[in-house]
Amino acid sequence: MDFSEFFGFLSHRSSVRDYRDEPLTDKETEYILDCACTAPSAGNLEAWDVVVVKEEDTRAALAEAAYDQQHIVGASTIFVVCANYVRSMSRYGERGILYAVQDATIACTYMMLAAHAGKLHSCWTGAFDEDAVREILDLPQHIRPVALLAVGRGYPPAALTERMEVGEHVHREIW
Ligand SMILES: Cc1cc2nc3c(=O)[nH]c(=O)nc-3n(C[C@H](O)[C@H](O)[C@H](O)COP(=O)(O)O)c2cc1C
Repeated sequence: MDFSEFFGFLSHRSSVRDYRDEPLTDKETEYILDCACTAPSAGNLEAWDVVVVKEEDTRAALAEAAYDQQHIVGASTIFVVCANYVRSMSRYGERGILYAVQDATIACTYMMLAAHAGKLHSCWTGAFDEDAVREILDLPQHIRPVALLAVGRGYPPAALTERMEVGEHVHREIW
């Protein structure tokens, strides 16, 4: 893949919130998980975990925990990507809190892009009640849910979302 193909791949992904009732195959699910495992992590500790949710009742409960965002029940699979504080704090102490969140975030990014590579659709979902998600999934105390990644087959929006100009983000040499 060259620069231009990679840019095309990235810039043609968009968040999808309207899904067909079609499950992911086991192969697709495992592909997404395998891709996540290639992500870098602080000290290679891989301080992230994921709960793969396919049951409709659980997705409905997660949708409610996500303030009634219906794509969470509409998408056939929800990858609940979590930071594992014990894994990173055992080596890095307080700094490990930030590392675990970064590890989970990059793992989730890889999953999102893996779904895109497999011609699936996704929506990264960060707005949810953490305590409610904890209770639904019986998460241990040292596990923090960071993102609900909805994945399925759906209807992408007609137009891509816009972005700021690169110059608005970038500072060179000094702020
Ligand atoms: C950290 C984060 C949190 C997000 N939370 C939500 C969310 O709760 N609900 C939702 O519908 N989309 C959510 N999104 C998706 C963004 O709205 C979307 O990525 C952004 O509008 C750009 O659109 P695009 O993904 O189609 O390019 C989130 C994305 C990120 C990265």
